[in-house]
Amino acid sequence: MNETEFGRYACKVTAAGRVNIIGEHVDYCGGKVLPAALSLCNTVYVRPNGTDKINLFWTTLPGSVSLDIGNLEAYRGLRYGNYQAGSALFWKRAGHKLVGCDMLQSCTVPFGSGLSSSAAIEVSTIAALAAAAGEPFDPVEVALLAQKAEREFAGVNCGIMDQYASACGRRGYAMLLDCGTLQCEYISFALGGCSLVIADCCKPHDLVQSKYNERRAETEEALAILRKKLPVNCLAEVTAGDFEKYAYLLPEKLRARARHVVEECARVSCAAEAMKGGDSARLGELLNASHASLRDLYEVTGKEPDALAAAAQSHPACLGSRMTGAGFGGCTVSLVRTEALGDFKSYVSARYRKETGYTARFYEADVSDGITLSFAADE
Ligand code: GLA
Repeated sequence: MNETEFGRYACKVTAAGRVNIIGEHVDYCGGKVLPAALSLCNTVYVRPNGTDKINLFWTTLPGSVSLDIGNLEAYRGLRYGNYQAGSALFWKRAGHKLVGCDMLQSCTVPFGSGLSSSAAIEVSTIAALAAAAGEPFDPVEVALLAQKAEREFAGVNCGIMDQYASACGRRGYAMLLDCGTLQCEYISFALGGCSLVIADCCKPHDLVQSKYNERRAETEEALAILRKKLPVNCLAEVTAGDFEKYAYLLPEKLRARARHVVEECARVSCAAEAMKGGDSARLGELLNASHASLRDLYEVTGKEPDALAAAAQSHPACLGSRMTGAGFGGCTVSLVRTEALGDFKSYVSARYRKETGYTARFYEADVSDGITLSFAADE
């Protein structure tokens, strides 16, 4: 169904997809991350319907799904509509008013690409529910409840980065988010003659959910062991020095996982400084080091993301490249001199195709606001 067929709406709500510049697999360890919200987003057109149902329509799907507000638990297994049902459920459980409404959903964040389409759907759905009920909302609370929906309804034991970036992003700014305290510093997204290029390795992947949850459990195990010697609340609090001192306590695999977290946290701080100081060369080196660590220590890349990052890294105009998001497929983010973007893309495409047989896709996106709202009366 398209927007015209859907007809009059009360409010149009968008929530952003995100790219994570650096700080991968550290959000659930209390670390800092450096994402930016993107103009790729999920849009929800919403109007109250005076019933006790949330009727969902999609611009890309025929038919509709109707959710009974009093029985949202029942929709866990839905193929389409389960993110919306989970979001509505946790918004309601947090004590917010839920009114029956019709929602048309339209997503430009590519699915399964590591750019957080699910967070964009959850966050925009909650903001649309608030708008339909005529209630103001706090974007941070929206992010936290969207995360709850992802964890407890969709079954991915994720951190807060994606939902926070999707809700609280700002046009033109990267976000240095402390996932332990939720303090966020907005850093002007100026890359001094360079651009961020997002490329999708376009390999269908599965098992992301189970492998993601497994990595998270490994970091928790490593933390439990280190806490026998160190008074820390999370892995991000472990200093490099303390880690070297006590790493011997950890079995080899857990040691590698924890080392990634400790070192990635240090890279994030350096990257934020490099960004503030306009030092793109340094930022690029940090991206490369992050990818190597995700490949060798955290083991969340895979043949195609490795090939795509390596192809990018071997181009002379590329200062650095790494996988972004949960991994096991999805996208890379590369820092590339703007004047050579065209040549970079054709070179990387050709080399990646030769090596893997897959065709990479490049996404055009600006650094944008998290949630936006526009009421029909304003238009
Ligand atoms: C997914 C999760 C985030 C984060 C990243 C890895 O995107 O939703 O919370 O853990 O993976 O950095």
